[in-house]
Amino acid sequence: MKFAVIGHPIKHSLSPVMHNANFKSLQLDYNYEALDINPKHFHHIKDIISERNLNGFNITIPHKERIIPYLDEISPEAKAIGAVNTVKIMNNRWFGYNTDGSGFVKGLKNKYPQLEKAHILILGAGGASKGIAYALKLINQNPITVANRTLSRFNNWDFDVKTMSLDDVPHYINTYDIIINTTPLGMHQSNNTVLNLAGIRPEILVCDIIYTPFETEFLKQAYQNGNEIYNGLDMFIYQGAESFKIWTNQQANIDVMKNTVLKYL
Ligand code: ATR
Repeated sequence: MKFAVIGHPIKHSLSPVMHNANFKSLQLDYNYEALDINPKHFHHIKDIISERNLNGFNITIPHKERIIPYLDEISPEAKAIGAVNTVKIMNNRWFGYNTDGSGFVKGLKNKYPQLEKAHILILGAGGASKGIAYALKLINQNPITVANRTLSRFNNWDFDVKTMSLDDVPHYINTYDIIINTTPLGMHQSNNTVLNLAGIRPEILVCDIIYTPFETEFLKQAYQNGNEIYNGLDMFIYQGAESFKIWTNQQANIDVMKNTVLKYL
């Protein structure tokens, strides 16, 4: 079988080494490659993919929304999130899924076994936030709170969450068990953080979906405050494992995937 990830730029993607290591460990003669597709050429996507006889592919930035009109079917979670990161091809038909949010939640459940009962706050309301909020709602018994700088961002959310302005978070922060940063603040070695964590309840698990840098300033602040921290590496690993399951109906070798990615970070 043949797979790929499409994006732009794509040369730094660790998906090929991660998936190929998984295939090898399961003794599968499969292949996974990276395809750089410029947004200007995206209208050729059907030809580009069919000429390679792929069985499925992942979609990353900036094409997760752009792919939707080319699908024959879309899963309920991808439809609600409005973004697709996995396509399975069967009999020339394209089926779209989103494993980003479910991947994050799978990893988080290992880190925090009582996840169902946790009170959870998500910071940011972009595509990543939406996927995580959707997946958490499926298993969590409490309302999920999402805080954002711009409240109008919630206008196109078509499932229920409790919304909050980022400015109000300091008043309520200690009522949560888990806080998840989904904003890009802290990427590219930036020292910016979305929120000051000094003095928060040390029992709160503080998460960031970023994993390069491995510890963002946000996580460093939390650690210095005595909190447990959790970065975005597992989200990347588990979204890949879930894609693999969709394509092949097999369980991925999580340990091999994670150890391989860690070597490249
Ligand atoms: P993604 O799809 O990766 O989630 P996105 O859709 O661009 O990315 O969303 C980025 C999120 O980070 C948004 O919630 C954005 O807040 P706004 O809706 O107010 O723009 C948030 N964000 C980005 N820069 C920010 C900043 N400097 N302060 C606070 N929030 C920020």
